[in-house]
Amino acid sequence: MDRLRIEGQHILRGEVPLSGSKNAALPILISALLCKGKTVFHRVPNLSDIETTCQLLKILGCHVEWAHSTQTCHVDATHLNSIEAPYDLVRTMRASILVLAPLLARHGEAKVSLPGGCAIGTRPVDYHIQVLEALGATFDLEGGYVHGKIKGAFRPAEYTFPFPSVGATETALMAAATANGKSLFKNVAREPEIRALGNFLISLGAKIKGLGSPEIQVQGIPMANLNTKPAAHTIIPDRIEAATYWLAGLITKGSVTTEIAAEDVQSVLDALHLAGAKISHLGNGKIEVSYTGKINPVSVRTEPFPGFPTDVQAQWMALMTQANGAATIAETIFENRFMHVPELQRLGAHLKIRGNRVDVSGVTPLQGATVMATDLRASASLVIAALAAKGETNIRRIYHLDRGYEDLCGKLRLLGAHIIREPESSQ
Ligand code: UD1
Repeated sequence: MDRLRIEGQHILRGEVPLSGSKNAALPILISALLCKGKTVFHRVPNLSDIETTCQLLKILGCHVEWAHSTQTCHVDATHLNSIEAPYDLVRTMRASILVLAPLLARHGEAKVSLPGGCAIGTRPVDYHIQVLEALGATFDLEGGYVHGKIKGAFRPAEYTFPFPSVGATETALMAAATANGKSLFKNVAREPEIRALGNFLISLGAKIKGLGSPEIQVQGIPMANLNTKPAAHTIIPDRIEAATYWLAGLITKGSVTTEIAAEDVQSVLDALHLAGAKISHLGNGKIEVSYTGKINPVSVRTEPFPGFPTDVQAQWMALMTQANGAATIAETIFENRFMHVPELQRLGAHLKIRGNRVDVSGVTPLQGATVMATDLRASASLVIAALAAKGETNIRRIYHLDRGYEDLCGKLRLLGAHIIREPESSQ
């Protein structure tokens, strides 16, 4: 197992290239199961979650060729030969539940182990099941597996989500894309990754209106008529990666530029502006975030898009340890998403958990220590804190970072960080 060694207090400056969005790539690669043919995906990030997805597609019968050097992934889903997503794969990546809808569309039957993934709360899959039931599927729970069946094709339906779940909205879109008629989904997720999946399904022939709004209409087309010609799709850049590098730059009193659509990260840019950062739109989609001599305390509350993303909550907490005063961070999307708190405290952060809120008192001088990465974004917050800490920080269990940050070390070094990755046994 590898660890990261970070010597803090070096200023980060420069431009960082973004990888393709993990959360867009996962559902889109999985939706290639709907195409009885070949699809080529560009800007596919080199992440362990993508590796897991490719393995899952192969187990289901796809031929997959993923070239890391060109960030290109070819998926040929002409012949599928399994209905089952096994426990050993699914437990490592919760998004595996997304294979339910395309497998039901292709085989009329699907068996998916109940998912694992990040240890952040209970994370049930009931909305996925409910929306698929509305579209005509039936389910049993057998030995830890969700076993779904459908007679014939999905049928069009109207369904209102109890909560705008990202994954369940993706399930709904994939299923309804193959229903013979018009479906209407209300209170859907509005994240840019939903728009990206919708656009891919449109390229296959589905007619989808309302992407990015709380209501989506899908005019599906029967499986046999879905585009079977080779299709191509480029994954959108990763907005969470962009936010992570901006925060990393700011905490070191530096300046980081990335290329990303401002509307995909507006809530983070608004919070950064309130925190005193200078936001410069440099043209060509490039956005520079620079330190201006102070970091103001800014309280945030995570919300579904376009609100402040839960996937930036932990990193924001790290930044707020260096703000000039007290801020409160409220987590409303997931339970138990404060696993970074005790680790940040090991670095000297003054944090107090009150239910779903954490009070952060800044400015706290952070001091390097050995800490443990616990989930993906929690790990990113430890990296950000370590960049501001005096002395050396060792971050262990960094395989969590490999799930969601491509070449984190290389990108941070490019910006001037003193960071190395080495086997945990090294001195
Ligand atoms: C996706 C993202 C994840 C992000 C999250 C919220 C991917 C691969 N992952 O996760 O990085 O943090 O959106 O922006 O895209 N819920 C239920 N029942 C369900 C589904 C969800 O109760 O069937 C609850 C969850 O427990 C959670 C909330 O709804 O409390 C939001 O979950 P959801 O939006 O579905 O997140 P994911 O799709 O798992």
